[in-house]
Amino acid sequence: MSDHRGQPAIETTGLVKTFGENRAVDGVDLVVPAGTVYGVLGPNGAGKTTTVRMLATLLRPDAGEARVFGLDVVGQAAAVRSRVSLTGQYASVDEDLTGMENLVLLARLLGHRKPAARERAASLLEAFGLTAAADRQVKAYSGGMRRRLDIAASIINTPDLLFLDEPTTGLDPRSRNQVWDIVRAVVAQGTTVLLTTQYLDEADQLAGRIAVIDTGRVIAEGSPGQLKSSVGSGSVHVRLRESHQRAEAQELLTRVLGTSVQADADPVGLTARLMPGGQAGPAELASRALGELAAGGIVVDDFSLGQPSLDEVFLALTDRNIAAAGGTHPTEAKQEAVA
Ligand SMILES: Nc1ncnc2c1ncn2[C@@H]1O[C@H](COP(=O)(O)OP(=O)(O)OP(=O)(O)O)[C@@H](O)[C@H]1O
Ligand SMILES: [Mg+2]
Repeated sequence: MSDHRGQPAIETTGLVKTFGENRAVDGVDLVVPAGTVYGVLGPNGAGKTTTVRMLATLLRPDAGEARVFGLDVVGQAAAVRSRVSLTGQYASVDEDLTGMENLVLLARLLGHRKPAARERAASLLEAFGLTAAADRQVKAYSGGMRRRLDIAASIINTPDLLFLDEPTTGLDPRSRNQVWDIVRAVVAQGTTVLLTTQYLDEADQLAGRIAVIDTGRVIAEGSPGQLKSSVGSGSVHVRLRESHQRAEAQELLTRVLGTSVQADADPVGLTARLMPGGQAGPAELASRALGELAAGGIVVDDFSLGQPSLDEVFLALTDRNIAAAGGTHPTEAKQEAVA
């Protein structure tokens, strides 16, 4: 795994996949550094699974090029396959077998002899907190247990590159945390992880870099921090003691913060989004604003200063994409046409 230091784990240029009229993946360029978690973020139908399937050699691109550790996914598919593993969006384990039987079977298929297969299966079940459920049929597992077993199945042989397609969709917060810990542990062992998700906080938690894709195109790329600062440097929220002072407070904040200030549905609430590029940082601006409110005799009951969430980033980016496409969201338009 140290042989590909410096070389990206994945590099694609102009990757395209069309299904009939539908350009599911429409010219995707990606560079995924080795040894990291890379997040591919996008709504339903954005083209995440299609992209992953091409990179994992399960689907042939219609145009463009993709290399995994320098190997071409079409011309050198077998070599690519020996380096990668995929945990698909839908469970791939056998429902009628137990957790142990599933892992032993897969390990045997990968060429491990029986004792080694049992040993590997047992240690993975242990690591994934499934020892107590090892001899239960998978159909009796909860969603979170299945996801963990699925991921365990895909790392029986430690791959250089692991694709995780929406590993936590539908999981409760506790199970999501368990899966996140597993992802971190996998990466700590040197595996590169490409993770697709619809959850911005998940990408934020795990990924060093993120590509946001919508309707088959990359609409933004960068570290979580870079993506957040592209839509604003923070937001200030205040709650006043007296609702009749709100208009005055709104005017004052607009002046001090130099940005538009929104009245919330809450009759005493005001929210301002701070834009980057000003001379004062968000914290300095916010404390100046509080000082002026106090000096103006306006009592503030509650105050918060936050970074924009990736949710705000995502909505801002996809809105821009809708505007650029002429007002209608292309995916929605497509789905209407089908309906
Ligand atoms: N085998 C297929 N045949 C025809 N159309 C397909 C096929 N697979 C995907 N598509 C279409 O390609 C587009 C992208 O689908 P894809 O599964 O890659 O999206 P996704 O980002 O993984 O979405 P989700 O978050 O719902 O999993 C969608 O419009 C989908 O309907
Ligand atoms: Mg998908």
